[in-house]
Amino acid sequence: MTTPRTISLRATRRGFLAQLGALGAAVALPRGLRADTAWRDPLPATVHLGGARSGLPRVPTAGADARFWRELREHFVIPRDEAFFNAGTLGASPRVVLDAMIEHLMHVERDLAHWDYDPAHEQFYTGYYPELALREKLGRVIHAAARDVALTANATMGMNLVAAGLDLGVGDEVVLAEDSHVGSRTAWELKDKRHGIYLRLVKPPADPDPDALVALFERATTPRTRVWAIEHLTSATAVRYPVEALCQRARARGILTVVDGAQTAGHLAVDVQAMGCDAYFASAHKWLLAPVGTGFLYVRRELQPRLWTTLASQHWDDQADTGFRLMQQGTASLSVLKGLDAALEFHLAVGSARVEERVVALADRLRTGLAELPRVSVASPIHPAMRTGTTVWTVEGLTPRQLQDALWARGRIRVRSQGTTGVRQCCHVYNGEAEVDRTLETARRIAAAARAARMG
Ligand SMILES: Cc1ncc(COP(=O)(O)O)c(C=O)c1O
Repeated sequence: MTTPRTISLRATRRGFLAQLGALGAAVALPRGLRADTAWRDPLPATVHLGGARSGLPRVPTAGADARFWRELREHFVIPRDEAFFNAGTLGASPRVVLDAMIEHLMHVERDLAHWDYDPAHEQFYTGYYPELALREKLGRVIHAAARDVALTANATMGMNLVAAGLDLGVGDEVVLAEDSHVGSRTAWELKDKRHGIYLRLVKPPADPDPDALVALFERATTPRTRVWAIEHLTSATAVRYPVEALCQRARARGILTVVDGAQTAGHLAVDVQAMGCDAYFASAHKWLLAPVGTGFLYVRRELQPRLWTTLASQHWDDQADTGFRLMQQGTASLSVLKGLDAALEFHLAVGSARVEERVVALADRLRTGLAELPRVSVASPIHPAMRTGTTVWTVEGLTPRQLQDALWARGRIRVRSQGTTGVRQCCHVYNGEAEVDRTLETARRIAAAARAARMG
């Protein structure tokens, strides 16, 4: 049996390339590998900020917050002059995540012949194993037991596992918002087309408040309603739904709640017990800063016997471990799960409450500043109960796409345009006050230039 060795990536790559260089004359190498001397390691040297558990943030002592967040930024490999604000699509992974993944990949490729397939020994892939320790860690993030959590590739897969797995048929109704993300909505559309369920699409008001959103779902409910499918935080408009109130009302009526946490897991402190939802799914590669292709699905114990497995393999009918029976995807990368594990460690070291407090504070600073700028408007809700780390905003006379590109061109600020709604700016722990202030100054200049262009 083998144990992973720590690898110096820099040394390994250089050695690897040197060997390739020696072979170069005889072997046709891929383009990128041929120019040995021009090759540069894209990753800076590993940053260890001290503490016995190198690679994890050290929790600050009282009053040391500013320093803590400055140091935390050092864990990320995004160049210092680039301000990345798009965790809503993909979060930036800290270096410790990259190290865990790449080291494991190297270990697998180097030591594969040592694998003896003995179930008591180390395995080199995943897909056939319950991965309980990892699910337990995920459970700690959302307050769930390991066996109630399934690992998935992303939020889309979670949505599909729930919609496909429920026995719903002709006449059964599902309520959901018409502006839900495709990764929140389409599995229900498929169910509608294939099995004849009826989708009641509700239209959220332009300037919503929590009561209005609860009323929206209640008004659309009939005696045939079986499910409320709720986007916890909407992707394009940054509307935060009052999920606790919605889950409580739904339960009182015997309706299941399926909550899409793609924009909230790792962003807001999530407690699925307190929320009272029947299912909650999310991608981990967004706000949890995990590798691409990771996510999870939580299913409440009481719902589990009613939820069929969609992907079947060896353990498809393991009723004692629903999380595992929902993970029957066949062979998959264990290296990616090593990265997920490191991302969860990183998140837990900082703490969900601390993350939420920080990102909302940064976003508040942004929203306050934007509201003071001429010809700039905040499009996402400013209701106190709906504040999050995400803000959608616009500049008069510019399309969201033009604003997105202008922010990058003028300020190296990466946000994402959202159709006609505005640009979405997601503040995360690797962002700082200076980057928010740079956004405000850049927005001021962009708005002035847009006005001058229109007048001229
Ligand atoms: C609210 C919401 N749900 C679902 C998804 C789908 O996520 P993924 O593509 O990671 O499955 C997204 C992606 O942005 C989203 O914002």
